[in-house]
Amino acid sequence: MLPRKISDLLGVEWAPLDIPMSRRLQTLGATAWICLALFGEALAIYLFIKLVYSDYWWLAILYGYWMLNDIEICNKGGRTFEFARNWSWWRYFCDYFPITLVKTADLDPSKNYLFACYPHGIFSSGAYGSFATNGANFPKLFPGMSAHLIVLGGHFLVPFFRDLILALGLCSSSQESILYLLDPKRYQGNCVAIMVGGAAEALDSHPGKYKIILSRRKGFIRVAMKSGASLVPVFSFGETDVFRPIDNPENGILRRIQEKVRVWTGISPMFPLGRGVFQYSFGVVPIRTPVTTVVGEPMEVKKNLEPTSEEIDAVHAEFSKRLTELFEREKSKYLKNHEGIHLVIT
Ligand SMILES: *[C@@H]1O[C@H](CO)[C@@H](O)[C@H](O)[C@H]1NC(C)=O
Repeated sequence: MLPRKISDLLGVEWAPLDIPMSRRLQTLGATAWICLALFGEALAIYLFIKLVYSDYWWLAILYGYWMLNDIEICNKGGRTFEFARNWSWWRYFCDYFPITLVKTADLDPSKNYLFACYPHGIFSSGAYGSFATNGANFPKLFPGMSAHLIVLGGHFLVPFFRDLILALGLCSSSQESILYLLDPKRYQGNCVAIMVGGAAEALDSHPGKYKIILSRRKGFIRVAMKSGASLVPVFSFGETDVFRPIDNPENGILRRIQEKVRVWTGISPMFPLGRGVFQYSFGVVPIRTPVTTVVGEPMEVKKNLEPTSEEIDAVHAEFSKRLTELFEREKSKYLKNHEGIHLVIT
């Protein structure tokens, strides 16, 4: 006997067969993105080694020589190619969820801004779509501004992969790099987006929960004060819903392994549980669920080259207050069951 519905086959919920082309392209865009995030670096290293042992080994030498000469670029403003941020891949990727970028205030293109983004989620899809690509209309919403998403410096050591992320405007997370991007003598209109909670916060990403790491994160406040750049609270509603829950309670074995790897490498080993390309029951493809990245109002920061810890704490307290206000004010627009959802700051 045939199963009554195709979804009954093998107990798996299959995607219907009559999906429009645009939705298929969106799924392809999201699948390619997660593959890039999970396997892109390993693949790039593999290709580089293949090249070394091929008849074109001299190309590998030339590239390696050039890369070593270019190694500091990730600390010196990067190398954005606007056309790479405009690829239709990113449009499909953003339309998949969809990722929506929302602004609550205009930004001044003669100033630089430090975007302090929350929450990290598993793979920061909202911040990536909004600030590493033009797929969520960054240039239309913020004319005259350039966005730079900040990631760990190690990513810029991977041949070929580094060229892609540099083209998308990404830069390294060193203090030198961020101060360079925010330096008013060098740039105007830079928006430097950092995931303040980082890899540690990713371990606490669970659907419908907003537990963030902020109390002990003061480095970004110091950088804002040193550069005099305004601080902008940014919150991605729905980011934690993009992957399914994974059972990694604190003190559990899995969590202890994740924490160990994070301490060694700076990267948290993640198990993105989402859906598959052709079915909805398992796989690494993110779940089609809306993510809204809301850019809050900028908070002026007085330039202070040598802030004391009391001065830093005062700015930190004011920023924490503004981030909480942004969350509470906006959550009803973008979260279902918002009454029961609160921002937990640790
Ligand atoms: C990228 O897209 C923006 C509009 O979204 C446009 O203004 C710009 O000229 C495009 N740049 C390139 C190099 O395609």
